[in-house]
Amino acid sequence: MSVLITNIGELLTSDPDGTTLRDAAVVFEGERISWIGPAAHAPAADESHDAGGRAGLPGWVDSHTHLVFAGDRTAEFEARMAGESYAAGGIAVTVDATRAAGDYDLTRLLLARVAEAAAGGTTYLETKTGYGLDVEQEARSARIAAGVADEVTFLGAHLVPRGEDADHYTDLVCGPMLDAVRPYVRWADVFCETGAFTAEQSRRVLSASAAAGLGLRVHGNQLGPGDGVALAVEFGAASVDHVNHLTDDDVEALAGTWAGFAARGEPGTVATCLPACDLSTRQPFPPARRLLGAGVQLAIASNCNPGTSFTSSMAFCVATAVLQMGLTVQEAVRAATFGGALALRRHTGDDEDGRRAVGSLAVGHRADLQLLDAPSATHLAYRPGMPLVHAVWRAGSRVR
Ligand code: NIG
Repeated sequence: MSVLITNIGELLTSDPDGTTLRDAAVVFEGERISWIGPAAHAPAADESHDAGGRAGLPGWVDSHTHLVFAGDRTAEFEARMAGESYAAGGIAVTVDATRAAGDYDLTRLLLARVAEAAAGGTTYLETKTGYGLDVEQEARSARIAAGVADEVTFLGAHLVPRGEDADHYTDLVCGPMLDAVRPYVRWADVFCETGAFTAEQSRRVLSASAAAGLGLRVHGNQLGPGDGVALAVEFGAASVDHVNHLTDDDVEALAGTWAGFAARGEPGTVATCLPACDLSTRQPFPPARRLLGAGVQLAIASNCNPGTSFTSSMAFCVATAVLQMGLTVQEAVRAATFGGALALRRHTGDDEDGRRAVGSLAVGHRADLQLLDAPSATHLAYRPGMPLVHAVWRAGSRVR
């Protein structure tokens, strides 16, 4: 069945050229985009929807969340707002609650969070394990996540569990735990930070994960300068996430990974910014303008988790990136759509597994579109916090 969405006042395509169309229309054929262009020239379709001059853009691609958890960390948040600084140790509180939850409850909680994200315009979402931290619990989190999320990342190397030896635990992550999660995950990640995993331990996790055929991501340079970015670049990770504390060398190393993108379309290591987390942990924002100026591709993601960023609102993250990080609306929207797709290596289609590209609007890409109750995407930052989502299509189906 074909669906025509017409009379779109402003359409941000998030294509590599940053094309914005006025008075535009899009046609979906099943789950794919079959036509895009000026409304006046749109072909007929089985069904049509009049956007009434509203702004349209791709659905959000949220490339960094931690949604498989139980429990609550309001007290930790209150303490932080009263002046305490974030320490990764709070993760252990969520580990206890998650281990204690049954499969049914953990699944129900995850489904509710994904539904919340979808209501906010997210049409493609990654989530991680990382609150199980033993073989059985990490495998359970991965299995539950694989039934719900578009992409699953193994984050056994999130925190060394209380009372365990760090090197012994790293062995477990690199061996039995990796084997147990392997059927459910496409990615592996490591929290390379003081208080979590050292550079050497992180290197072991990345090596073992690469050898197991997983794509790599790194939590790096969140709470202070460190080795996360350098390791991500060394291992050809698809993204390094947080990037709050970067040296000149870090920026240069990331820029170097993008040298072949324009000519050969070969993506480098995406710098994923998590602005809602930065607000909640009172960290400096990443040097986004500097990264862009150096040629680094950015993603913006929600980092929805119970400790540092309990929101899945990509619109809030985009507004914060504009209001606080100095990005233009177009740059922020691109980072939250195409950038997320790049970070998940879903920016192009994959004929082998029949997957369609997400994160930008072009013929052949997955039909993921949101309409805002606003005449332009600028309203995302101009009216921060307002419920601007008017309609959402995911893979050609209206989900809101
Ligand atoms: O991305 N940095 C590590 N992991 C999460 C926080 C997890 C938590 O505190 O529960 C993050 O911010």
